[in-house]
Amino acid sequence: MNAFELYNPTKLVFGAGKVQQLGQLVKPYGTRILLVYGGGSIKRSGLYDEVMAQLQTIGATVHELSGIEPNPRLSTVNKGIAICREAKIEFVLAVGGGSVLDAAKAIAAGALYEGDVWDFTVQKAVIQAALPIGTVLTLAATGSEMNGNAVISDWDNKLKRGLGSKLVYPKFSILDPKLTFTVPQDQTVNGIVDIMSHVFEQYFTHTQDIPLQSRFAESVLLTVIDNGEKALANGSDYEARANLLLAGTYALNGTLPIGIVSDWATHGIEHEVSAIYDIAHGAGLAIIFPNWMKHVYKEGVERFVQFATRVWGIDPTGKTDDEIALAGIEATRAYFTRIGAPATLGELGIGGDQLDRMAEEAVRFGPIGSFKKLNKDDVKAILQSSL
Ligand code: NZQ
Ligand code: ZN
Repeated sequence: MNAFELYNPTKLVFGAGKVQQLGQLVKPYGTRILLVYGGGSIKRSGLYDEVMAQLQTIGATVHELSGIEPNPRLSTVNKGIAICREAKIEFVLAVGGGSVLDAAKAIAAGALYEGDVWDFTVQKAVIQAALPIGTVLTLAATGSEMNGNAVISDWDNKLKRGLGSKLVYPKFSILDPKLTFTVPQDQTVNGIVDIMSHVFEQYFTHTQDIPLQSRFAESVLLTVIDNGEKALANGSDYEARANLLLAGTYALNGTLPIGIVSDWATHGIEHEVSAIYDIAHGAGLAIIFPNWMKHVYKEGVERFVQFATRVWGIDPTGKTDDEIALAGIEATRAYFTRIGAPATLGELGIGGDQLDRMAEEAVRFGPIGSFKKLNKDDVKAILQSSL
């Protein structure tokens, strides 16, 4: 096991009706609030009214930035930054899915930075300060509710990049499983795939002797596989939604990668696809991840054997290691297909004409991944097999 540091300052407030604590959770940070939300789901569900009522209990002045896009845009983030500066915002409150949370983080950091917030995504600047943020999460997927990462898109230049800092961890995140009852089937599927993909990125490692990390990761996967299907069968199944929500948070809150080297190549590749085609992140991952697995499994077949047998229950009797590993990869693909995720880029209307550009951008800052270091040709081959 490698040396590590673990830091996570986000207060999780989990359970039905916990939005009733919102006013008291915001109070210590001030009363000039920027409320950030998406395209209207929170208005349809009644959550918006509940949030406003809570903010009234502390006499808050609320400014609003609505219309955060899935795959949030730099231009929208800049609108939020302008509001923060003009209205001397003290606290940014994100209510929605990962895109809303990510936009809020970028706004919070950009508001206290004189340059272009995009600088943080291209290592031109490091976040030195940020407004405090809090979140009310409505979709189990990204883990953004308990981490310091955000992903934003420069739509004009077709680029999607991440920024990160311990300064943009939410001060608190309210997770009420009931708020996810209204998530449509396709977004539930995308969330399931995203959560599983986060685990994959941190499970396929060459770091040895990591039984606890392996079992943590496998338990998140098994929880998602089981409860994901239950949530799809009945969107109002509280326990299934609760287990999915918690699994999503733990998949990317820093617990899984302690003491190991993680990979993250597949996320890098997917971001290049959604940067150009604006597809849902989870849909892109469902297509690409099994193909990444096939491309790299020979680099450490024992890890894939463990995955196949422990997670998918593949019977190893009479099979070679390669056959067991491949059966595990096929089981992953079959699960994604069973829950309704796409398996090819073609299903989303994406052809092969941008493969070179996507592969080049994916390795712009050097080879990606660690289980197998991927260069441009590797990325292109994975994308080619995803068509
Ligand atoms: O915009 P509204 O109207 O709110 O509708 C949203 C949106 O259309 C809807 N939705 C959310 N909660 C709902 C709901 N509809 C009904 N009922 C609810 N309770 O779902 C749609 C998708 O929302 P979005 O926030 O885009 O989804 P997700 O949470 O999957 O976030 C995806 C974004 O997060 C980034 C992705 O790249 C993508 O841009 N990621 C962020 C990460 C992080 N910060 O750590 C890590 C991830 O790997 C990922 O890259
Ligand atoms: Zn993801």
